[in-house]
Amino acid sequence: MERLILDCDPGQDDAVAILLANGATNLKVEGIVAVAGNAVVEDTLENALKLTEEIKMDVPVYRGCSSPLIRKQVIAEKIHGKGGYAGPTFTQQRIKQCAGDGIDFTIDTIMSNPGEINLVAIGPLTDIAVIIKKEPRVIDNVKRIIIMGGSLIEGNITPTAEFNVYADPEAARIVFSSGAEIYMMGLDVTKQVQLGKDEFKRFKEEQKNSPTRAREIFIDGMEYYTSTCVDANHEYPAMHDPCCIAYLMDPSIFSFVERDIDVETKGEFTYGMTVGNWPDKNSKTHVGIKADSDKFFDMLSKSLSK
Ligand code: BDR
Ligand code: CA
Repeated sequence: MERLILDCDPGQDDAVAILLANGATNLKVEGIVAVAGNAVVEDTLENALKLTEEIKMDVPVYRGCSSPLIRKQVIAEKIHGKGGYAGPTFTQQRIKQCAGDGIDFTIDTIMSNPGEINLVAIGPLTDIAVIIKKEPRVIDNVKRIIIMGGSLIEGNITPTAEFNVYADPEAARIVFSSGAEIYMMGLDVTKQVQLGKDEFKRFKEEQKNSPTRAREIFIDGMEYYTSTCVDANHEYPAMHDPCCIAYLMDPSIFSFVERDIDVETKGEFTYGMTVGNWPDKNSKTHVGIKADSDKFFDMLSKSLSK
């Protein structure tokens, strides 16, 4: 059983990561922390609360940071819709409440369970940087940090930068240089897991044959996400964030290379770029480079049938 804290900014693909984790039999989600990213933190928090309530996921939801360390805030409502998570319809009356401060929760959970907790970060890395600054010993006590962010190839918000890193490059730099055991699931690997027409058809058929609320929420979100992704980049939506959860469920789906990651925080044209230096003996970042997308979608199908 892998135990994890999910730091996220739901977000269409963040929501899929939550749905995937909720259906996983070998994961225990200790808590969800919502950080500002795809939308402002009030919205990402609300989205996490609504989604987990709707799928009856028994997990506390905490509030993370509301703005990047230094840079001016950027959000991605163009892709994810107004409020960061357009598509599904949720009940108006939410009962579930925020469980408190996500920074303290994450530090306390990691420090009281040495070597046990995976920290999965699928939004900008602001919270993780703040945690490292506040309690540097988390680096030796966390099991792994699994990050959706960065790219060795090209970016998606600028030609050189991926959104989560671009949204807070100074935070990303602190995390990648922290010395923690890091798995970077960047665009190199997540763009290999795209919800194309055939994959989407499969989920719709499965829903017709044996409907579940989780799959309905997935389909409604993906209808929206597909349209914005195709409009923005003429590509089917990549399952960016769920790749981190999929790695924990079955690491054999992915292959990695070792790199020493630097984050560009000054470049006029390359701000937010992740630079993969050739590894040295201290390199601890495993960069995902290959994914078995068929296995991924089989796994997602199982989770959504719950
Ligand atoms: C990342 O950016 C966000 O918009 C997605 O949720 C994902 O975490 C992909 O670049
Ligand atoms: Ca995200």
